[in-house]
Amino acid sequence: MKAIVVKRDKQRYRLAWEEVPDVKPGSDEVLIDVKATAVNRADLLQAMGLYPPPPGESEILGLEMAGVVAAIGPQVKGRRIGDRVIGLLSGGGYAQQVAIHPQLLLELPDSWSYVQGAAIPEVWLTAYSNLFIEAALQSGQTVMIHAGGSGVGTAGIQMAREAGATVYVTAGTAAKLKRCRELGASLGINYKQQDFVREVMAITRGQGVDVILDPIGGAYLNQNLALLKENGCLVNIGLLGGTTAEINLGAVLGKSLRIIGTRLRSRPLAQKIEITRMFADRFWSIFETGRLQPIVDSVFEIQDAPAAHDYVKQNKNTGKVILEISSPRH
Ligand SMILES: NC(=O)c1ccc[n+]([C@@H]2O[C@H](COP(=O)([O-])OP(=O)(O)OC[C@H]3O[C@@H](n4cnc5c(N)ncnc54)[C@H](OP(=O)(O)O)[C@@H]3O)[C@@H](O)[C@H]2O)c1
Repeated sequence: MKAIVVKRDKQRYRLAWEEVPDVKPGSDEVLIDVKATAVNRADLLQAMGLYPPPPGESEILGLEMAGVVAAIGPQVKGRRIGDRVIGLLSGGGYAQQVAIHPQLLLELPDSWSYVQGAAIPEVWLTAYSNLFIEAALQSGQTVMIHAGGSGVGTAGIQMAREAGATVYVTAGTAAKLKRCRELGASLGINYKQQDFVREVMAITRGQGVDVILDPIGGAYLNQNLALLKENGCLVNIGLLGGTTAEINLGAVLGKSLRIIGTRLRSRPLAQKIEITRMFADRFWSIFETGRLQPIVDSVFEIQDAPAAHDYVKQNKNTGKVILEISSPRH
């Protein structure tokens, strides 16, 4: 089969669509003909050699896919060849085929394209698990979602809105903020021009927020702590703004705050299955009504993965950047 192969020289890398050994699915797995995958920040880091796959997982990039079931392991029940599915991967999505545990699969609605389907697994499951499992976001609460225009942000805004929470976001351009408001954010703050703590404190009459979903890390830590209410929860999912900061433990203790860090990719299979099921039980039927939408910014052919990576690196996307695989396996 063909897959994207990373050729690295220190942290610079090239991506080439090349012949690689075929995938050999286990007896409890299904083999998927991948029709579309998507770019994640983790792929950029992995390609630079800074984020190796978990032990035993594919070295090929790609944390999600939409495709068609091509073969079924002898221990697998309830799947048919030809099923249109999407699923979360630990790697291997930038390829013509990938193996996956069947309980990680969700059925792709007939009216959806593979491109739409590939926009879901990684960022919706990340936003879901952190907002609703880790931070236990409730109806009537307030949430700040940083990088609101990101894949995770655009998913998180929609689910938090649907759950009855009030959503505030930060983003770096007027166009991204506009899109966030269309998706349900009630306040959008341009972090390059405004102080998000001051803006949110003003709109909440000094109360702050219950939950913060934060992919920025070090640069925002103390502002995030200042913004949280008593018993508030900061969930850190990324380090786009650096890894270190001096922490004011007075704020943590004085307001009984929780600070949590999570990584979806390194969770055990059983947890990924549980997150997939809980997400589907709560939100899948709402997708079918159209009230929740996968947000696709742009679509590249898999051979153009280098251009897609550059696009994401330059922060140009609002929502997901998809890689389509239109060439059949042989
Ligand atoms: N822990 C996990 O399990 C997990 C899973 C998935 C994703 N993530 C992380 O979540 C984050 C979002 O992922 P994604 O794929 O949704 O990202 P994305 O679509 O590529 O969007 C990231 C956006 O973050 C903003 N940004 C970049 N650097 C920034 C900085 N220094 N300060 C403030 N904003 C900055 C940019 O938008 P602006 O134009 O607004 O600046 C950029 O477009 C990434 O850090 C990713 O690694 C974590």
